[in-house]
Amino acid sequence: MVNRRTAECLRKVFASLLLTSLPLAAQTMATQTLAAQTAAKPTSRLPQLVEKDGRFALMVDGQPYLMLGAQVNNSSAWPSMLPKVWPTVQRIGINTLEVPIYWEQFEPEQGKFDPSILHTLLDQARTHHVHLVLLWFGLFKNGSDHYTPPFIKLDEKDVPHVTAANGRKVDSPVSWSQVALNADRAAFVELMRDLKAADPQHTVLMVQVENEAGTWGSIRDYSPTAQKLFAEQVPHELIQSMHKQPGTWQQVFGDTADESFQAWGIAHYINQIAEAGKAVYPLPMYVNVVTRDPFHPSPGSWASGGATDAMIPLWKAAAPSINILAPDLYTPGYNVYTKLLDIYDRPDNAMFVPETGNAPEYARYLFAVIGHGGIGFSTFGMDATGYSNAPLGAAKIDDATTAPFSLVYSIFGPMDRVIAQLNFEGKLQAVSEDPAVHTQTLNFGAWKANISYGLPQFGSGQKAPGNKTPEGGAMVAALGPDEFLVTAIHARVDFEPATEGAQRQFVRVEEGTYINGVWHFLRLWNGDQSDYGLNFTSVPQVLKVKLATY
Ligand code: DGJ
Repeated sequence: MVNRRTAECLRKVFASLLLTSLPLAAQTMATQTLAAQTAAKPTSRLPQLVEKDGRFALMVDGQPYLMLGAQVNNSSAWPSMLPKVWPTVQRIGINTLEVPIYWEQFEPEQGKFDPSILHTLLDQARTHHVHLVLLWFGLFKNGSDHYTPPFIKLDEKDVPHVTAANGRKVDSPVSWSQVALNADRAAFVELMRDLKAADPQHTVLMVQVENEAGTWGSIRDYSPTAQKLFAEQVPHELIQSMHKQPGTWQQVFGDTADESFQAWGIAHYINQIAEAGKAVYPLPMYVNVVTRDPFHPSPGSWASGGATDAMIPLWKAAAPSINILAPDLYTPGYNVYTKLLDIYDRPDNAMFVPETGNAPEYARYLFAVIGHGGIGFSTFGMDATGYSNAPLGAAKIDDATTAPFSLVYSIFGPMDRVIAQLNFEGKLQAVSEDPAVHTQTLNFGAWKANISYGLPQFGSGQKAPGNKTPEGGAMVAALGPDEFLVTAIHARVDFEPATEGAQRQFVRVEEGTYINGVWHFLRLWNGDQSDYGLNFTSVPQVLKVKLATY
């Protein structure tokens, strides 16, 4: 297994070998080019989410970026905990760390801000050569107000908890509190102001506004204030942007009136926070979503008012300052996981998975996320602070936990920009292993790429056995009419011409590696390595394949 640090060393060794095998003049030129590339510091262009023909790219330093991330545990963003974070995430080989900023820590007393953790995080991220995504744990964290400072948490009069239909208070704050909005917004704006001043080199790429916002324990708020709002007309701006006829919540939304009312309140609240933050420093901003089972959504199993599948159109209309509705994916089953990717991959929504489980079977879903045009993927709870969110993830964060993620990150890390660019151009397809079928097909017009999972598959007549635990994935990108970039794990990839009767032959199968976006040749695959298809194991390997027919 090659982790990112080893891969980095190999790349350096390889680069120096490459140099010494060149004639002297070429060596000097190549050294200058490499030096120029190394010296080419970020151009300080603001990270931006761009869209073209329904495809998205997160532009970092002016080029599409593929975020290979990890998120720390909830209570790890303290200076004393960070030494337990870096070794784990470095072992995984991330290029971006997701880390919370806690409102209670940032504003311990009303109006007194403490940005020291922000500076610590920026310094340490730069030392470790990774980017950051900041998570604003404001009024909403997993639907509760647990990260609010005491002056909010204890103010039940102005920032009450939601009242359920039976009159009991539940552990979620109301979204209509002007006191909460004013304070949350002021703190967030202060954070964005500090960040802008402290981060001219754009270490921070995006900001998550609140965390898994929604209401647990009641479909909506039934307090007297909420009842009054619920009986009123749906706000004009929502009617207009959703192209609805005016009316009360019940008249406009019928069966989904309660949840739509709750979703509007939360989305509108968050939008006002994001809008004010962007006015100061316009980084891309997103919300993370508690997803629900898309096949069997059982009532009460998701946070009401969050941007679940049913509420996506409403959220898009109510929160235009939020760039991405990003699903948190903690259900490892293939059908549910990939269905949720289908749902959130929309022409008006970039594919981004800000949290996924850290058990081994989740790592392969990086392929499916990339296959959905994903701008990023991040595994949750990856640090050595002594906590793990099992059974959603691994029981213990050790080498066995990090290895499947380091494998997939070591494949895509060295070519992250290349992959993001190919994806933005619509040239790439990728899939994760479906244990129910063992084979999948990617259609590229004149060629089909057939993926079969599980090894060994020596010889041509072998049936794909599937992997014992589904851990395979494959990616194929068109570089030219008969030329493809290919990588996979625990799978065989073969090509089949669309033309009836024609047979494929490999003209050239070249293994190589990308260094600073430039392809470097390592060897040709032939004989056992390619006679019966291209067999990928648990070694990070990337191929450029030229095809012909006979
Ligand atoms: C999703 C939340 O967004 C995370 O902060 C964390 O609480 C995980 N669930 C569970 O560990």
